[in-house]
Amino acid sequence: MPNPDATRSPSSAAFDPLQSYALGINEIDNHHRTLLAFIDQLEQAIRNEAHWLALHDILDKLHRWAEVHFAVEESLMQILGYPELEMHRRAHQTFIVDIRRRRENVVTNELTADTAAWLRKWLQLHIGIDDRNYAEFFRRVVGEGA
Ligand SMILES: [Fe+2]
Repeated sequence: MPNPDATRSPSSAAFDPLQSYALGINEIDNHHRTLLAFIDQLEQAIRNEAHWLALHDILDKLHRWAEVHFAVEESLMQILGYPELEMHRRAHQTFIVDIRRRRENVVTNELTADTAAWLRKWLQLHIGIDDRNYAEFFRRVVGEGA
């Protein structure tokens, strides 16, 4: 499982999932784009010192989208017999737990300024390493049209 703290870069906002990390599976790439857009929104809202309800709302949307997206990925892995499904599922669960904790932190005014950067970095590493592995497996199983 990637640890964003281990490879922190000063300019994670430059991350472009389409150019650098696209998996070549359109639906999944679109999901990743949506998740990153919510993280961008969160970063902007934190920077603008938005009301806690607005931050909570963004984290809530990110949480729901991540749950749907992870369910889609895990379903595909299950259908195609991906051997690392359980490890990947645990990574997803870690992210979901982290988002929930940060959503709670908003209510208690404990959300840290680096929240968006941390979430973005986690997703960047997850897409670039873990997701890339299953995308290559999918292509081997079903061919380039996957
Ligand atoms: Fe994933």
